[in-house]
Amino acid sequence: MYADRLQEIAPFRVMELMERAKELESRGKRVVHFEVGEPDFATAPSVIAAGQRALADGHTKYTQALGLPELRARIADYYLDNAGIRIASERVVVTSGASGGLLLLCGLLLNADDELLMSDPGYPCNEVFARLTGAKPVKVAADAASGFQISCAAVQAAWTPRTRGLLLASPANPTGVMISAAHLRDLLALCQGNQGVVILDEIYQGLVYDDQPDGSDLAGYRTGLQLSSEIFILNSFSKYFGMTGWRLGWMVMPEDAVRAVTPLAQNLFISPSSIAQHAALAAFEPEAMVVHEQRRKTFQQRRDLLARGLQALGLHIPVLPAGAFYLYVDVSSTGLSSTEFCWRLIDEYHVAATPGSDFGAAEADRYVRFAYTTGEEDIALGLERLAMALQRWAERCD
Ligand SMILES: Cc1ncc(COP(=O)(O)O)c(C=O)c1O
Repeated sequence: MYADRLQEIAPFRVMELMERAKELESRGKRVVHFEVGEPDFATAPSVIAAGQRALADGHTKYTQALGLPELRARIADYYLDNAGIRIASERVVVTSGASGGLLLLCGLLLNADDELLMSDPGYPCNEVFARLTGAKPVKVAADAASGFQISCAAVQAAWTPRTRGLLLASPANPTGVMISAAHLRDLLALCQGNQGVVILDEIYQGLVYDDQPDGSDLAGYRTGLQLSSEIFILNSFSKYFGMTGWRLGWMVMPEDAVRAVTPLAQNLFISPSSIAQHAALAAFEPEAMVVHEQRRKTFQQRRDLLARGLQALGLHIPVLPAGAFYLYVDVSSTGLSSTEFCWRLIDEYHVAATPGSDFGAAEADRYVRFAYTTGEEDIALGLERLAMALQRWAERCD
């Protein structure tokens, strides 16, 4: 009765685990949450106030399909402030979250039976967007030895006459790692040489931490737009701006692509949320930016606390990531698969984390994603419980 494509769409495995966490909480148990992929902070107060003003002022109608001109201009200015590059506001398209942007990009770029290369591990929804257009997602494994970066050789090996391009994320979910400017330059050259496109998901772009040593390849690098104006950029107000529930994002693309995507945006969405767009204008004001920057620093402290704690317990973190709010942790030393590890952790110790199998197949049994979207007190409690778990599990193996 329902469409065949649904057979190919896997539910998030972590949802079942989250159900278990909810059930435990309903029985009065305290659960430590390392599974949640969104900031635990509410939207900055001045942005909430701007959203309330938008409602009071009657901004409750459709807007232009590509977004309010003043918001497109403000987003273009953000690149000037943040990365020192000037882009025309006509290249900015405001979307219903990065998710809405990804749907538009897949509709814009993919024909049925085309192939889109993407990283494994990676954000699980990517492949679903590609499939909706009838295209085929092709996973390219990125292992710990290569810093969870997909290599040019692997991309070239996966490239076929049907390949349309490459979808990358920097910083990435679930690993938090950034693609260095040099590597991105090589990947861009490879794709362009093959007449393919590069989509770069920069949804975690604002959440990059301050410890890039001078002279490192990441120092001074902010966005793929510094390297190419042909690239298709996805971004969002969800993560750095703490606005997940407002459902607002943006894309930056070449101007002819904006013209081509306009009818698709008009037909599929009519416009992004008017209220969210008015609120988002306030997100770039100094009052809100102070809050966002403070939160970024808090995330960095949490990253360091959690990473030190996990390493002290003997768990290996192959790459200490430069951004996002995730650690991708090797749990193979416990002798458990990542799925067993996560289920035993929630059932026995009431700590929730996401198994690697939610992000792909490449060595998924080995890795667990820990999100530090929870306060320092809970991180400390989670580490205490994990210490007990690891000790007991090891004793039983002896
Ligand atoms: C890498 C990545 N891309 C896109 C999204 C979707 O974000 P949005 O809330 O902007 O739709 C997420 C959400 O977690 C993500 O992790």
